[in-house]
Amino acid sequence: MNQRVIPLADERQLRQLPSVPAELVAPSGRLVDSRGRPVKDLRISVTDRCNFRCVYCMPKAVFDKDYAFLPREALLSFEEIARLARLFAAHGVSKIRLTGGEPLLRRNLERLIAQLVAIPGMEVTLTTNGVLLPKKAPALKAAGLTRLTVSLDSLDDTTFRAMNDMDVPVADVLAGIDAASAAGLGPVKINMVVKRGMNDHEIVSMARHFKGSGHILRFIEFMDVGSSNGWRMDDVVPSAEVVRRIGEAFALEPVDPNYTGEVAERWRYADGSGEIGVISSVTQAFCSTCTRARLSTEGRLYTCLFAQSGHDLRALMRSQRSDAELATVIGQIWQQRGDRYSEIRTAETAALRKIEMSYIGG
Ligand code: GTP
Ligand code: 5AD
Ligand code: SF4
Ligand code: SF4
Repeated sequence: MNQRVIPLADERQLRQLPSVPAELVAPSGRLVDSRGRPVKDLRISVTDRCNFRCVYCMPKAVFDKDYAFLPREALLSFEEIARLARLFAAHGVSKIRLTGGEPLLRRNLERLIAQLVAIPGMEVTLTTNGVLLPKKAPALKAAGLTRLTVSLDSLDDTTFRAMNDMDVPVADVLAGIDAASAAGLGPVKINMVVKRGMNDHEIVSMARHFKGSGHILRFIEFMDVGSSNGWRMDDVVPSAEVVRRIGEAFALEPVDPNYTGEVAERWRYADGSGEIGVISSVTQAFCSTCTRARLSTEGRLYTCLFAQSGHDLRALMRSQRSDAELATVIGQIWQQRGDRYSEIRTAETAALRKIEMSYIGG
């Protein structure tokens, strides 16, 4: 196996590779896809397992004791992940998000984080359900994690236990958020997936709870990701309704995005007590600015959350390909990308067999 780590290939080196035609490289020197979108974010799933069974993600009826999770040897090693991350960095990626499944279930994750933050200019963050943070937050901070996002769908124990379906109480997640803040990883972003009839009655109480806390609560439209969550358009609460309901309780003002292509639309409380975000991938697709690549737990590259197939980078790595060859393949896959699933979603596409989010990464 070629484990040799060559120095970071820079854009100049990549452009010199014969199989990356000059016309496919943007004037900035960055690779762009067929719709002119550069690759900026890499979302890496480090495990397909989770200690929750959220009804919208890993419903128990499918993810039961017979579910075929990946065997250990199928997972990319930390060295393999870091090697790919360096090649993506050379193509323009400056932000990595570790996901899963539950990323904190991957043993010694902090060792991977330390390898990733060593890539010049790389921001490294992760999305977690939070329950392991009291144990792990100091090590994550020490390894150099930049910040993190915690999922929390409700403040009401009965609702929350029904949504995570593992009887986890709200207090465990709140303790995780506190531990992250205490370790210096705050302010934390908090993701609430809103499902009509399940937790939409909690939109305003969640807003009230985190208002003034310094944390940023984001409301996510329930998506038809994967094939097991029984998605129906009727269960989606449009972000416009979320903003209207919160606005009736607290005055809100729109805020400009932090950066082009930011997924969340930002709103701030007029009294200066913080901000919220809404993520509207169903009612207001943001594919035209999508700069995200996804690496699955076993090393397949997906260019869309809703892709039906990926590209096996693990096989290339494990067959002694050089960094230059791998970088070329990655560049070609990105150049050919034309994905815009959320813009073309229909009842038919929603019913297609798609990759589960726990495998492809949230
Ligand atoms: P930062 O701006 O770095 O904080 O990250 P972010 O706002 O992109 O947040 P995060 O990665 O936590 O994304 C929040 C949620 O938005 C995810 O859990 C998904 O539900 C949804 N999301 C993120 N990226 C995509 C995407 O490319 N397509 C779609 N359809 N949904 C996405
Ligand atoms: N719709 C929207 N967001 C989802 N997530 C998982 N499944 C879905 C879905 N069906 C989000 C969770 C978590 C992240 C890992 O992905 O809220 O924040
Ligand atoms: Fe686990 Fe997150 Fe999926 Fe819930 S949303 S089952 S916490 S990976
Ligand atoms: Fe990007 Fe696909 Fe999501 Fe559109 S649906 S924003 S192309 S990941």
